[in-house]
Amino acid sequence: MPNWNKIRKDFPITKKSVYFQSAAMSPIPTPVFAAIVKNYRKIHRQGDILWTKDLEKYRKLCGDIAALINTEKDNICFVQNTSTAMSLIALSFQNKIETPYNVVSTEDEFPASTIGFEHQGIAMRYVPPINSRYPIDAILEQTNEQTAAVVTSYIQYATGFRQDLQALGKALHDKSILFIVNATQAFPFYPLDIQAMHIDALTCSLHKWGMTGHVGSIFFTSPEFRKRFSAPWIGWLSVDVGKAVIHTAKNAPFRVHDSAQRYEFGTQNLQTILAFQSALDYLKAIGFENIRNRILELTDYLILGLKKLGVRIVSPTDKPEERSPIVSFSLGDRNKECIKKLTKESISVSPRAGLIRVSVNIFNNFEDIDKLLSVLHSVISGT
Ligand SMILES: Cc1ncc(COP(=O)(O)O)c(C=O)c1O
Repeated sequence: MPNWNKIRKDFPITKKSVYFQSAAMSPIPTPVFAAIVKNYRKIHRQGDILWTKDLEKYRKLCGDIAALINTEKDNICFVQNTSTAMSLIALSFQNKIETPYNVVSTEDEFPASTIGFEHQGIAMRYVPPINSRYPIDAILEQTNEQTAAVVTSYIQYATGFRQDLQALGKALHDKSILFIVNATQAFPFYPLDIQAMHIDALTCSLHKWGMTGHVGSIFFTSPEFRKRFSAPWIGWLSVDVGKAVIHTAKNAPFRVHDSAQRYEFGTQNLQTILAFQSALDYLKAIGFENIRNRILELTDYLILGLKKLGVRIVSPTDKPEERSPIVSFSLGDRNKECIKKLTKESISVSPRAGLIRVSVNIFNNFEDIDKLLSVLHSVISGT
């Protein structure tokens, strides 16, 4: 059993405030912060000398991520953010699909998942939520013979609803509809299995549960996806040079990487990307099942307290398989006053989609939740 008190000490933010905003960005734990500093110190002292070694470490990291989500290293790369990954996919569709088509997504989706498709003029069909859930039948109902893809989050950012990706992926696979997943609010805490979930492309920004700050996004594409859709734009590192070093020739043929490396374009911030290796090792050492259980017991405690206060909880809470670190609720027209009082007590939550969003993390404890509930009680009772 992990020592949660010890883990809490890795997050200095807990000394000064009660932080329930990890679904916006998690604070960086001390060992990961130390790795970032170490990586920057390397270029401070040695410049470019270790770049190729760092690239090897980067490939190893892609391999570790691939193993975690049941795919191959060659299908993984890093891009700047989820918005970039989704725009790449949207442009890939526009370049290739010649017959009229649409893309289905959900009304509550964070815009990083959808705005790039809208910008390309792709016909979007949005599924309305049913009690903050997206039942698979409701998603399938929005699809038709022209649907090229379904784009959805694994965990919805505003309500925390966790989708059954395996059942949805299987249903879409049977209909030959591409399955595009935004796992930003889930990875690496919640299990992902590319094969079993029939995922064609996946993106996952790491500044939330990846605990490494704004390091970028993991971008997975299947070999079939890359075969069907050529890279809509490339850079010098997208070019497969074989044994050569750099493709410097002009007006000479070149070959774009078959692997996901085609989406790497140019140099990246390896100092922070490689620090994600530390975050991954740190979280693996705690154990993802332990983490999920801890999140469940903390959110159980929070939900019970909210119910006792008569607060309207908007997140789906009755099925553990739909739960996540996010619990959203509303005090109606007292939301603003509530957030103000919480801020005054150094308790940070996120206003999202007209709701108050609380997201719990491995450094939170029951006392944090008691402090939050106590402020809510004072707002509700007017004391
Ligand atoms: C579900 C989800 N996807 C993506 C993002 C971020 O998108 P990007 O990486 O493009 O900044 C967020 C929140 O910031 C989010 O909640």
